[in-house]
Amino acid sequence: MGGRCSLPLLPILFSMVVVMLGIIELIECSHASTTIFSCHGSERKALMQFKQGLCDPSSKRLSSWVVEQDCCRVTYELGNLSNLHHLDLSYKGALPLHRTLYLEDAGWISELTLLRHLNMHLVNLTKASNLLQALNTLPHIQEIQLSQCELINFDPLPHVNFTSLTTLDLSENDMISSIPKWLFNITTLQHLNLGYNYVLNWTNPTSIGHLTSLRTLHVSQNLFDHGFKPAALSNLCELQSLILSRVSINDELTNLQGVFSDSCLKMSLENLDLSDTNLNGPLPDWLGNMKNLKHLDLNSNSLYGSLPASLGSLLSLQYLDMTDNDLNDTVEEGIFKQMKGLVSLHLGGNSLILSEVHFANLSSLKELDIYNNTLIFNESYYDWIPPFQLEFLDMSFCKILPRPQFPKWLATQRALYELHLANVRINDTLPNWLPSSFYDLDLSNNEIT
Ligand SMILES: *[C@@H]1O[C@H](CO)[C@@H](O)[C@H](O)[C@H]1NC(C)=O
Ligand SMILES: *[C@@H]1O[C@H](CO)[C@@H](O)[C@H](O)[C@H]1NC(C)=O
Ligand SMILES: *[C@@H]1O[C@H](CO)[C@@H](O)[C@H](O)[C@H]1NC(C)=O
Ligand SMILES: *[C@@H]1O[C@H](CO)[C@@H](O)[C@H](O)[C@H]1NC(C)=O
Ligand SMILES: *[C@@H]1O[C@H](CO)[C@@H](O)[C@H](O)[C@H]1NC(C)=O
Ligand SMILES: *[C@@H]1O[C@H](CO)[C@@H](O)[C@H](O)[C@H]1NC(C)=O
Ligand SMILES: *[C@@H]1O[C@H](CO)[C@@H](O)[C@H](O)[C@H]1NC(C)=O
Ligand SMILES: *[C@@H]1O[C@H](CO)[C@@H](O)[C@H](O)[C@H]1NC(C)=O
Ligand SMILES: *[C@@H]1O[C@H](CO)[C@@H](O)[C@H](O)[C@H]1NC(C)=O
Ligand SMILES: *[C@@H]1O[C@H](CO)[C@@H](O)[C@H](O)[C@H]1NC(C)=O
Repeated sequence: MGGRCSLPLLPILFSMVVVMLGIIELIECSHASTTIFSCHGSERKALMQFKQGLCDPSSKRLSSWVVEQDCCRVTYELGNLSNLHHLDLSYKGALPLHRTLYLEDAGWISELTLLRHLNMHLVNLTKASNLLQALNTLPHIQEIQLSQCELINFDPLPHVNFTSLTTLDLSENDMISSIPKWLFNITTLQHLNLGYNYVLNWTNPTSIGHLTSLRTLHVSQNLFDHGFKPAALSNLCELQSLILSRVSINDELTNLQGVFSDSCLKMSLENLDLSDTNLNGPLPDWLGNMKNLKHLDLNSNSLYGSLPASLGSLLSLQYLDMTDNDLNDTVEEGIFKQMKGLVSLHLGGNSLILSEVHFANLSSLKELDIYNNTLIFNESYYDWIPPFQLEFLDMSFCKILPRPQFPKWLATQRALYELHLANVRINDTLPNWLPSSFYDLDLSNNEIT
C-alpha cells in the first residue's frame, strides 16, 4: 500500500477475520440498498481520505477500496459515507500479536457528519493524534469506543462541542497524562471508562462532580498523584456502577460514609468495586444502607473485625467479595438469612469463624470461597441438605473443627465442578460419596488414604 504503510507483513489470517467482522458490522446506513452508479465528488473525497487514513499492512482488508475506479462499488457497498451512523472497525478475535489496522490520520472522521457510534477497539492509534479533535466536530456522536488503541495522550480540545456523547471508553491504553479539563465539560456522559491506564490524577479532584449524568465510572488501576479523593463522587446521583479497583484511596472505610451512605449514591449504586484500594479499619454498619447493591467487592484491603449485621439487609446482593482482608471475628449466625439472591460469596483469606448455619438459607449460592478461615462443623448439621447446589467451593487452608473431615453435605452437591480442600489436615479415607462432577479437584497436603 505504498509508502504510507511501510510496516512489516503481518499474519494474513488475522486480517481476513477482521475483514469479515469489520465489513459486516461496519455500517448502519440510511440508504444502504440504494444503487449508486456515479461517484459524487464529496463521496470520492471522503472515501479517499478514509482509505489513506487507515492502513492495512497486509493489504487484504481494504484492498478493494484502494483503486479509484472501485469507488462506486465501495459506495454501493457502504452507501454515502456521510450517512454512516455506525462504524465498527474493532477487532473481535483473540488478542492479535500485531495490530492489523493502523490509523495515521483521523481527519476523514469529520466527514462522517451523521456518525453516532464509533468502535475502534484494538486499532493502533499511536499516530492518529487528531482523532478526538475530529470526533469533536461530529454533532451526533453518542458512543466512542477506543479501548486498547495504544493512545498515550488526550488530544487538546480548545472547545468541547460534544453535545450527544454518552459513552467514552479509553480503557487499556497507555495514557500517562492528567485527565484534561475538557473531559469534565462533557456533561452528557453516562459511561466513562478510563480503566487500566497510567493516568496520574484529576486536574482538579472535584471536577468529576460535574459529570452528573454518569451511570458508570470505571477508573481502575490508575495512579493518582495524591491518592484518589472520592468526595466529589457524592454528587453523581445517577451512578450505578463505580469501579475503583487498584486505585489508592488509602483511608479508613468508615470515613467514606459521606460519599456512599449520606449521599444519593446510597440509592443509585448497584455495583461497587473498591478492591485493592488501601482501605483499612473495621467494616462500617453503613454498608447496609446501600440497599440496591448487587455487587460489592472489597477484596485485598486491610479491613478487620467482623461482618456487620447490616450487610444482611442488602437483599439485592448477588456477589459479595471480602477476600484477603484481616477480618478476624465470629460472624453473627443469621447474617445471610435473608440473602436468597446471593450467588457468589467470597470470604477467603481472612480469620473468620464460620459454620454451616451461616449458609443455611443461601438458596442461590453457586460459588463459595472461604479458604483460610476457621470452620466449625456442627453435629446438628450432620445430615444437612443445603438449599444450594454449588459449582465452586474453596475451603483450602481452613482449620476444620472439631476434627478435619470431609463435610458429609458435599455428597448433595451434584453440580460441583471445582473443589479445593488442600491443606486442611484431613486424616481419612477418600469417601465413596463424593460427587462425580469435578473437573478440578485439589485435595493436596492432607493425609487421605
Ligand atoms: C451524500 O451525502 C451528502 C450529504 O448528506 C448529500 O448531499 C449527497 O447527495 C449524498 N450523495 C448520495 C449519492 O446520496
Ligand atoms: C502501533 O504503531 C506504532 C507506530 O506505528 C508501532 O511502533 C507499534 O509497534 C504498533 N503496535 C502494535 C501492537 O502493532
Ligand atoms: C465548536 O463550537 C464552537 C462554538 O460553537 C465553534 O466556533 C467551533 O467551530 C466548533 N469547533 C469544532 C471543531 O467543531
Ligand atoms: C468548559 O466549560 C466552561 C464553563 O462552561 C467553559 O468556560 C470552558 O471554556 C469549557 N472548556 C472547554 C474546553 O470546552
Ligand atoms: C496532580 O494534582 C495535584 C493537585 O491536585 C498537583 O499538585 C500535581 O502536580 C498533579 N500531578 C501531576 C503529575 O499532574
Ligand atoms: C481483630 O484485629 C484487630 C486489629 O488488628 C484487633 O484490634 C482486634 O482485637 C481483633 N479482634 C479479635 C476478635 O481478635
Ligand atoms: C431460613 O429461612 C427460614 C424461612 O424461610 C427460617 O425459618 C429459618 O430460620 C432460616 N434459617 C436460618 C438459619 O436463618
Ligand atoms: C490465614 O489465616 C491466618 C490466621 O488464621 C493469617 O495469619 C494468615 O495471614 C492468613 N493467610 C492468608 C493467605 O490469608
Ligand atoms: C450447633 O447448631 C445448633 C443449631 O443451629 C446451635 O444451637 C448450636 O449452638 C451449635 N453448636 C455449636 C457448637 O456451634
Ligand atoms: C491419622 O489417623 C490414624 C488413625 O485414625 C492415626 O493413627 C494417625 O496418627 C493419624 N495421623 C495424624 C497425622 O493425625
